[in-house]
Amino acid sequence: MENSIEEIEAEALQELAAAAGKDEIQELSVTYLGRKGKLTRFLRNISNLPPDKRPDAGKSANILKKRLEEAFKSAFEKMDLAEAHRIEAIDVSLPGRPVPLGTLHPITQIIREICAIFQKLGFDIAEGPEVESDYYNFEALNIPKNHPARDMQDTFYVSENIVLRTHTSPLQVRMMEKQKPPVRIVAPGKVYRCDSDITHTPMFHQVEGLLVDQDISFGDLKGVLTAFVQQIFDEQTSLRFRPSFFPFTEPSAEVDILCVMCRGKGCRVCSQTGWLEVLGSGMVHPAVFENVGYDISRYTGFAFGMGVERITMLKYGIDDIRKFFENDYRFLKQF
Ligand code: PHE
Repeated sequence: MENSIEEIEAEALQELAAAAGKDEIQELSVTYLGRKGKLTRFLRNISNLPPDKRPDAGKSANILKKRLEEAFKSAFEKMDLAEAHRIEAIDVSLPGRPVPLGTLHPITQIIREICAIFQKLGFDIAEGPEVESDYYNFEALNIPKNHPARDMQDTFYVSENIVLRTHTSPLQVRMMEKQKPPVRIVAPGKVYRCDSDITHTPMFHQVEGLLVDQDISFGDLKGVLTAFVQQIFDEQTSLRFRPSFFPFTEPSAEVDILCVMCRGKGCRVCSQTGWLEVLGSGMVHPAVFENVGYDISRYTGFAFGMGVERITMLKYGIDDIRKFFENDYRFLKQF
């Protein structure tokens, strides 16, 4: 007999304590308990012992076998645990993973830019409901029922007297009802028309403007809109005021700007005219003042309304309005 059972035990436990990984424990288990292992050999050699020594030797060898099996198993499990801890451990010194940041929608950005320009000119920001009464959307703006001007706007009706506002002009009436002149407001918001193609969507955005005071003239309208256009586009952008018609302004004018693409030479964007329409405007119609109880012998004012998508498309050279509403991140992240 080469080794006593005590020697085998002491040696095995010592080596196990020194084992540095699962592989080493696995090897130790083979060294002691495998088919040619030290303990296995000891057990096999018991038959060579004198008969009276055999029962004790067998018994203690079997006890050691169990003990070693358990020791190896628990050492193995401890290694697993240590491994798991090592993987889960958080290294606080690592740099964080970057989270992609979204951007403001281009329409939101331009609305903010437009409002900021008018705020510098002394205008306040006003807002009103998108679901609007027939009265504010039409009637109070000098567009009675059956007036042909109602056909200019393909209205979504909620019920007989409730509509989705077709423009932001109801804000003119709402604000004048609320306060006495002077009134200086711009009102951004969503408007709705039953219309859809590459230049029209059923919902789009407008910014309304209204200025009422004593001695306000068409010259003030031209001055304010010129200042605005040259800030939102650039100083080389000249304007053209073209006679037009709106029931709630008199006289009325549509404002064209020199084509931002060809600078007046004529191109596809301006249909070879050299000009682009960007605004509706005019002097507030006396009938509107009367509807809100303003003294028409004392006050005059001007109003204007612009399409935000149109201005954004011209500013960035976008040719399809529907791109704004498709939520394609590749499009949106460019702004
Ligand atoms: N509300 C008009 C439109 O939507 C624009 C406008 C506003 C015209 C104010 C004149 C004055 O077309």
